[in-house]
Amino acid sequence: MSVLLCFAAALVFLYVILYYVVFRGTGFSNSVRLDGKTAIVTGSNTGTGKATALDLAKRGARVILACHNREKSEAAAFDIRRESGNNQVVFMQLNLASLKSVSNFAETFMNTEPRLDILINNAGVLGPGHTEDGFGLAFGVNHLGHFLLTNLLLERMQQSGPSRVVTVAARLHCIGNIDFPHLASKKDLVSGQSVWHNLQAYCNSKLCNVLFTRQLANRLDGTSVTCYSLHPGVVYTKIGRSTSWWLQLLFTLFAKLFFIDPERGSHTILYCSLQEGIEPLSGRYFSDCALQEVGAKARDDALAKKLWEGSDIEGGACDIGFIIHCIKSLVKTMYDCICVLYLSFPFSFLLFKKNKKFYFSIH
Ligand SMILES: NC(=O)c1ccc[n+]([C@@H]2O[C@H](COP(=O)([O-])OP(=O)(O)OC[C@H]3O[C@@H](n4cnc5c(N)ncnc54)[C@H](OP(=O)(O)O)[C@@H]3O)[C@@H](O)[C@H]2O)c1
Repeated sequence: MSVLLCFAAALVFLYVILYYVVFRGTGFSNSVRLDGKTAIVTGSNTGTGKATALDLAKRGARVILACHNREKSEAAAFDIRRESGNNQVVFMQLNLASLKSVSNFAETFMNTEPRLDILINNAGVLGPGHTEDGFGLAFGVNHLGHFLLTNLLLERMQQSGPSRVVTVAARLHCIGNIDFPHLASKKDLVSGQSVWHNLQAYCNSKLCNVLFTRQLANRLDGTSVTCYSLHPGVVYTKIGRSTSWWLQLLFTLFAKLFFIDPERGSHTILYCSLQEGIEPLSGRYFSDCALQEVGAKARDDALAKKLWEGSDIEGGACDIGFIIHCIKSLVKTMYDCICVLYLSFPFSFLLFKKNKKFYFSIH
């Protein structure tokens, strides 16, 4: 009996140590007020996004809930207004799985909101599917949608400076990868839709978040806008909602025991948004309300630059597959024109004889 009791006590002790040392992490407390300031939080109808929006609203900020589901988001806005006593909490529709929706959101925002002090790229998905533009869901929503959104709003942030772009990545970025040829041809960072592929796609998209922030900081150097990426902790939210039932069951059991709640999960997001004096650390990655070093891949400036260039067409639409498609079409059209000319115009033979090498090289 006493052996059993000792074993149970040891288990409880181990659990408390694990929870408080490994999972719970350091909290953030800061009384800074945000009256007169405006913040956007993407994916703020639930999870860490909602907890973050509530905290910002309590500090007096005007908070834009940038979410895709109107019903859920209106309900969240109502909750946040009631709990914070701040009426400046509004919903604006944003579907990060549609580049058109991102552009529409940015246009509406730029036409109606005079300032933007904090942009929190929080929304995230883990699961199968594709975006409206044909990209893999995790890559499209977690990286590409936020990439375009940030670029379209930068002008307003520069006008409102000092301002901050905070992107919620994840510790899992460290096992992420970016396969550029695959991305160019398949519009995705993975080749399948299995549970494993979805998890890998999620990790890859989170590596994109860290690299995006790094490159953004380089581009914003010398301006009044700074940016940060972060891991919010292991949080009990609905992030795994579109994975298989058995994975969700496993996740729920483990989550109930070990994961932190969304309020606690918002602390590092708030730290990066509000902590004074971290401006010289623009572009860096945070966890547990502190700077964290990242692995070699996540601080590879050449990789970050390549990702940026692949995601961007002069700050506008972001469609790598489309560029490849256009180049292929152009080459094919040129080839067709040459063939038609060659066959239909009797003198063209003489004309092309000199350029025979060029003609065959297109073959
Ligand atoms: N939970 C964790 O342990 C953990 C760990 C590391 C990093 N993170 C990161 O933390 C962030 C927040 O996740 P969470 O854990 O709070 O998960 P969550 O509860 O599932 O929240 C995700 C949010 O993203 C929104 N969203 C999904 N697809 C969207 C789209 N196409 N357009 C606009 N919004 C969209 C969701 O809206 P709907 O509810 O309407 O779908 C929801 O509001 C994510 O970036 C996630 O990767 C989480």
